[in-house]
Amino acid sequence: MKVIAFHNIKGGVGKTAAAVNVAYLAARDGVPTLLWDLDAQGAASWYLGDTPDLTGEKAARLVKGKTPIGKMINATAYPKLDLIPAHPSFRNLDLRLEQEGQKQALRDWLAPLSEDYALIVLDCPPSLSRLAEQVLQTSDAVFVPTIPSWLSINSWDQLVAFAEDKKVKTGKLHPFLSMVDRRKRIHQTLLDKSKGGLKRRMRAFIPYASDVERMGEQRCPVSITRPRSPAALAYELLWKEIRKLIKR
Ligand SMILES: Nc1ncnc2c1ncn2[C@@H]1O[C@H](COP(=O)(O)OP(=O)(O)O)[C@@H](O)[C@H]1O
Ligand SMILES: [Mg+2]
Repeated sequence: MKVIAFHNIKGGVGKTAAAVNVAYLAARDGVPTLLWDLDAQGAASWYLGDTPDLTGEKAARLVKGKTPIGKMINATAYPKLDLIPAHPSFRNLDLRLEQEGQKQALRDWLAPLSEDYALIVLDCPPSLSRLAEQVLQTSDAVFVPTIPSWLSINSWDQLVAFAEDKKVKTGKLHPFLSMVDRRKRIHQTLLDKSKGGLKRRMRAFIPYASDVERMGEQRCPVSITRPRSPAALAYELLWKEIRKLIKR
């Protein structure tokens, strides 16, 4: 079982869109996949058509070992793709992990899932928190959507510094450009590796596309609504590259 995450310290950069589309494509290719929507805002759950159960204190019960992770899993409309939907109490996951002093909680939660899944996809909230630390430690690879701007590259550098501080191998962090608009000069500049910025980024990049924006309305992956669109093709390439990287 491989664990991958989509993370960035910034919000609104395309983490959730990538997590949902990549998880869908993995499942479509026959890989039993579980997407965990760790962001209390629940965008990934929304995109996958999940109706949230807002009752209870799920984060506390999970951290205290009172709810086994299996109980939190829902099926989705897609074969081989399951979901742990977001819950408002995930907002407190950080605090709970801190209080209970659990350093490996995420790893322990995921371990029993290896019988049922070949791939776990973590969709993370934007932060450098205790949870982020565990996500970085537990994941085999972390994919970092980055909008082409110098400020975003600055956030990438901050994530790398955070990883170094937590003794996480920075080689498992993989940035890719997201929301690329070729009409913008800065985007063109940063697409050109020779001009600096994000030198070790992935080949795949995601264009700025209204088909992705419309996922919020249509509540399904772009590969279903617009299979031949540039965005769907870009997510295909991203998934192919991810697949190669995690096979190593
Ligand atoms: N490639 C894209 N092109 C256009 N809009 C996008 C793209 N990726 C994401 N968006 C839109 O930007 C907003 C933030 O995207 P999201 O994936 O939720 O980011 P994050 O998870 O990093 O906060 C959403 O409204 C989404 O529809
Ligand atoms: Mg998100």
